[in-house]
Amino acid sequence: MSQHTAGLAIETAGLVKTFGATRAVDGVDLAVPAGTVYGVLGPNGAGKTTTVKMLATLLRPDGGQARVFGHDVVREADEVRGLVSLTGQYASVDEDLTGMENLVLLGRLLGHGKKAARERSAQLLAAFGLTEAAAKQVKHYSGGMRRRIDIAASILSTPDLLFLDEPTTGLDPRSRNQVWDIVRAVVAQGTTVLLTTQYLDEADQLASRIAVIDRGRVIAEGTKGELKASVGAGSVHLRLRDAEQRPAAEQVLRLALDVDVQREPDPVALTARLDAAMGDTAAAQAARALGELARAGVVVDNFSLGQPSLDEVFLALTGHDTKTDTEPGTRADAGTPAHDQKGEVAV
Ligand SMILES: Nc1ncnc2c1ncn2[C@@H]1O[C@H](COP(=O)(O)OP(=O)(O)O)[C@@H](O)[C@H]1O
Ligand SMILES: [Mg+2]
Repeated sequence: MSQHTAGLAIETAGLVKTFGATRAVDGVDLAVPAGTVYGVLGPNGAGKTTTVKMLATLLRPDGGQARVFGHDVVREADEVRGLVSLTGQYASVDEDLTGMENLVLLGRLLGHGKKAARERSAQLLAAFGLTEAAAKQVKHYSGGMRRRIDIAASILSTPDLLFLDEPTTGLDPRSRNQVWDIVRAVVAQGTTVLLTTQYLDEADQLASRIAVIDRGRVIAEGTKGELKASVGAGSVHLRLRDAEQRPAAEQVLRLALDVDVQREPDPVALTARLDAAMGDTAAAQAARALGELARAGVVVDNFSLGQPSLDEVFLALTGHDTKTDTEPGTRADAGTPAHDQKGEVAV
């Protein structure tokens, strides 16, 4: 549907936003290919919402440039507004109106005729599993329903670019899955989605490329595979037939792979974190380990080779886990080694 599909939906260079002494966004470069879900992953206070607000023309940048489908977000703000839609941590729907009333009202505001607005609204309510709730006031919706009506409202007229700012924060797993399905459906129709999230598995599930953002800076960028590969080669998980063979298996794995081997709580299970610097691929290392185990007479019942989780990626990139709050005003440590590593870890 988009005439821009061949190019970039978003392009920023050195984007900056300060609030007093806080550099909320501290020189962000992004290149978001059109027609994809792009994940901006970072903990609370990382600068995700501030970035989205600048891209959606709701906040004026203090430095750098940002273009949406080639239009400058400051000089061509009107053009940008015509192409984007925003949902997530913002209330766009009226609590006192029903789901149907909200959508029809918005549809009318967007210039749809009465009949077209009703039809489109009914279609979206059905697609989002809200038909039965269509006549209920939104204030009586559950958290998951509320999030879905928010997204429905934001795609009433199919936008070229949809910002989803933490669309599933606080939702139960079932509602999260429903939102994920909706995001996939929206992208299948040609809309580009910029998704911010604190959830590593959410970025992993939905996004083709991910920028990891911490304290206003992009600390790594790439496809999921690239990000994971920049951190480690993954892990080998083994389940043995016989718990008594576990010490022997540990020794064989240590010798074959030259890495630490961890005992899992399950007495027949072992995990070995592979070393990316070993030179050969994770699969080759794993194959070698299995061969050595067989030669040593260790019976392996179950074997899997897993990529590192995005949690491990974040920890490796930032030196802190995703739960650690980045307090405003602690930016003085922005030059710690974790941040200086950008050149090595950026992919
Ligand atoms: N309007 C504002 N005034 C002052 N500080 C703000 C404002 N908005 C955001 N900040 C600060 O900027 C930083 C980034 O915030 P935000 O973009 O909301 O992060 P995120 O969305 O990743 O949680 C935080 O330190 C936050 O406290
Ligand atoms: Mg936010």
